[in-house]
Amino acid sequence: MAWPLLQLLLIAAAAAAGASSATTPDGPAPWPEQFHAVLFTNLTNVSIASSGPPLRLHDLYYDWPRRRNLNLIRHQLSGDPLYDVEWNNGTTFYFDSATCRTEQFPVGVLRPGWLADGSAVYLGRETTGGFDCHVWGKAGFIVYYEDALTRRPVRWNFIDVTGIEQFVMSFEVGVVLEDDSQWQAPAHCFLDEAANKTNEDGDHVAVSNGVMDAARLFRKFAGAAAAY
Ligand SMILES: *[C@@H]1O[C@H](CO)[C@@H](O)[C@H](O)[C@H]1NC(C)=O
Ligand SMILES: *[C@@H]1O[C@H](CO)[C@@H](O)[C@H](O)[C@H]1NC(C)=O
Ligand SMILES: *[C@@H]1O[C@H](CO)[C@@H](O)[C@H](O)[C@H]1NC(C)=O
Ligand SMILES: *[C@@H]1O[C@H](CO)[C@@H](O)[C@H](O)[C@H]1NC(C)=O
Repeated sequence: MAWPLLQLLLIAAAAAAGASSATTPDGPAPWPEQFHAVLFTNLTNVSIASSGPPLRLHDLYYDWPRRRNLNLIRHQLSGDPLYDVEWNNGTTFYFDSATCRTEQFPVGVLRPGWLADGSAVYLGRETTGGFDCHVWGKAGFIVYYEDALTRRPVRWNFIDVTGIEQFVMSFEVGVVLEDDSQWQAPAHCFLDEAANKTNEDGDHVAVSNGVMDAARLFRKFAGAAAAY
């Protein structure tokens, strides 16, 4: 009789599928090396002043092989998007059609495995936006929600003065923004470069000795530094 073997395989397959969501993983999954995500950003609960309307849409292009990261930020009912382009040499450009600001950070782009290195603290299981999630904390201010079934990020909050809440509306693995003109800082960024450079991140925390921890780097990655 052949059927017991088939049945056994089906039971094994079902158990394996169930295991991925029933057991608690050691940590959040590493990120894919390239992805495009659309993030809904809510800054309503931010306790420090932010510029412009508090609701935004971010198009986030993470491109680790090329060591670059772009947040294209659209404020609610505003036509002029804000670009936040981050390079691995430490330069970050924040610009729109009229203004530009650059910041120097001693470290570059966030690594895909920054959250999967065993340093995240498991906070339990919670449903957010209808998704059953594992919840992780890091560095006392990041709360990171990962879909228990697919292990995609669903949401993250910064429970500090930046108070930012971001909801992952789409997450496309392997999607790359090839159009270099979208990454290129415009001419008005280079008129008087030295004048506007600072050595602070967006939370006004001075970076010393070339050290910036991954948690703060994540804030930069998420475009929080561009929010104010
Ligand atoms: C707003 O932020 C505070 C901490 O700053 C937190 O205690 C509170 O729960 C937040 N409110 C909402 C509605 O998320
Ligand atoms: C944004 O956050 C505030 C404060 O946490 C909350 O009251 C509000 O419902 C949120 N708005 C949206 C559209 O999520
Ligand atoms: C870093 O790289 C970008 C993009 O190539 C460039 O525009 C910027 O000037 C560089 N910054 C430094 C400090 O070399
Ligand atoms: C530098 O900052 C000033 C004041 O905010 C602004 O007017 C000027 O356009 C900036 N320069 C560049 C090159 O971004």
